Amino acid sequence: MQQSNSNINFFKQNHHSLNVFKVLIFIDKDNWHEVCIIKYIVSVKRIIKLKIGVIMSNKLKVVAVSGGVGRPSRTLALIEEITDRLSQKISIDLHLIELGQIGSQLGAAASRTALPESIQKDIEAIETADFLVVATPVYRASYTGLFKHLFDFVHHESLFDVPVLLAATGGSDRHALIIDHQLRPLFSFFQSLTLPIGVYASEAEFVDYKVANEALDARIDLAVTRAIPFLKPRL
Ligand SMILES: Cc1cc2nc3c(=O)[nH]c(=O)nc-3n(C[C@H](O)[C@H](O)[C@H](O)COP(=O)(O)O)c2cc1C
Repeated sequence: MQQSNSNINFFKQNHHSLNVFKVLIFIDKDNWHEVCIIKYIVSVKRIIKLKIGVIMSNKLKVVAVSGGVGRPSRTLALIEEITDRLSQKISIDLHLIELGQIGSQLGAAASRTALPESIQKDIEAIETADFLVVATPVYRASYTGLFKHLFDFVHHESLFDVPVLLAATGGSDRHALIIDHQLRPLFSFFQSLTLPIGVYASEAEFVDYKVANEALDARIDLAVTRAIPFLKPRL
């Protein structure tokens, strides 16, 4: 018992050293249970340190997908506005994928291996993102074929619980439900965490392909503010 107390005191004085438990194993062969507890404490401390380190040092990996098929693009303007607002609130590392820029190569590939390396990297970025912001123009009351084609290449188990902010632009407000009737089911398939508030914008809310409407401004702000509590790095 006396030996046990002295070991505990020894641990208390030296707990900053990760070698402590090795010393204890050596000097305390009989009190294996005590050694196990100390080993456990040291391991837990290491894990906590590691996790805090990751959270503190890593910027949030945000991947934004703009489904606009050309430039200029209202969909791109909307994505840029959303990610700008986000970067004003938290530290992010942004990877932007513009379908208008990769469309011809993406559309020509029938399998992932047939894609050029840069697009394969885009897909890997999606699969490892901490947070996805996706926006598509409405085409025939849904997302574009290219948008779906991109996500057809994304591994079906790579987006579990990943928060996704859904956004779309359309000719009028008539297809605003694309967010809930088209985009949300797609990301439900991936078992992503589709955020409750998406952003829909109609052509009239842009001037010269820039967001130019107070109500849209407020909707973007609300969506970003409400997204923040869901965002954390993947561990
Ligand atoms: C082929 C095509 C189909 C479209 N279908 C719809 C539609 O069904 N509903 C709608 O509201 N807008 C529709 N639009 C309008 C676009 O969604 C709208 O102009 C959008 O803002 C374009 O985005 P962009 O500037 O990023 O290309 C369509 C546009 C095109 C070119």
